[in-house]
Amino acid sequence: MDGQREQARMPLFSPFEMGNTDPADLAARLEKAGYAAPLRAAVTPGGEHGDLVDLALRALDVFQQDGSLFHPYTSKYDAYLAGKAALTEEETRGLVAFEDPARGNCASCHVSRPGLDGTPPHFTDYGLIALGVPRNRDIPANTDPTYFDQGLCGPLRTDFTGVTDYCGRFRTPTLRNVALRQVFMHNGVFHTLRQVMEFYAERDSDPGKWYPRGAGGSVMKFDDIAAAAHGGVAEAVNQEPPFGRRPGDAPALNAREIQDIIAFLGTLTDGWSAKKTAGR
Ligand code: HEC
Repeated sequence: MDGQREQARMPLFSPFEMGNTDPADLAARLEKAGYAAPLRAAVTPGGEHGDLVDLALRALDVFQQDGSLFHPYTSKYDAYLAGKAALTEEETRGLVAFEDPARGNCASCHVSRPGLDGTPPHFTDYGLIALGVPRNRDIPANTDPTYFDQGLCGPLRTDFTGVTDYCGRFRTPTLRNVALRQVFMHNGVFHTLRQVMEFYAERDSDPGKWYPRGAGGSVMKFDDIAAAAHGGVAEAVNQEPPFGRRPGDAPALNAREIQDIIAFLGTLTDGWSAKKTAGR
């Protein structure tokens, strides 16, 4: 089994993702969903009947290697970069705020410009960053107050256990097609882009809106990182704009800037065509 196929296997069987218990379970679901016949037809055109799970992994592997399917780069923003589309005023304001180091500063992590060789922007710098997102109390594992999913420092990863500076760090995700998502951040704590934007804008200026209060009444900031939840300091948490404000300061982004950035994020959805939005 090669790397890519192995990677395709992981989310299918991870209890945190698709949660299939074993290959037989997955095969039954593939049959039930009507995928068995098309998989057999597509992956083994000669009619040879392989193991259904293996066929699914091969299909995912091929899908990921086919650039035009896996990353078609057909968003409105790609057309704009190619000089084939104009952004609306709102989208343009959103792009400017997204890239402004003093306001959104989003592009410092979610890279928005093509690479020197012309590679379309991936909207991630592939960095590992701690944003200190609030704990998601709907996750069953989190009913245990001593359990913390801290990304780079574990417990799922074990190569940096105990390196507290790495606790709470997660890979910067791409923002391509982000407007299609309904669950955001590594722990799924947010459900709308507006919530995500307001968190960026107000994490430090209005922390009481995002984190619970401890027994003494003080706000338990970064409550999903063990050290912070236990009264310590979460050393790794990012403090650059839009973060780094003091309680009571104005939010880093106002309501209009938030709206503008959400409009801009909408231009990152693949499958845009000039005809569909003609007349806008
Ligand atoms: C310091 C780097 C950094 C900056 C600046 C930053 N982000 Fe992020 N962004 C991240 C990381 C890391 C995550 C994932 C965090 C996690 O899951 O704990 C993330 C997650 C997101 C998500 C959720 C994506 C998903 O699929 O769950 C959105 C949307 C987003 N960022 C948009 C923005 C916008 C808009 C801005 C500017 C206002 C911005 N980000 C600024 C690093 C950054």
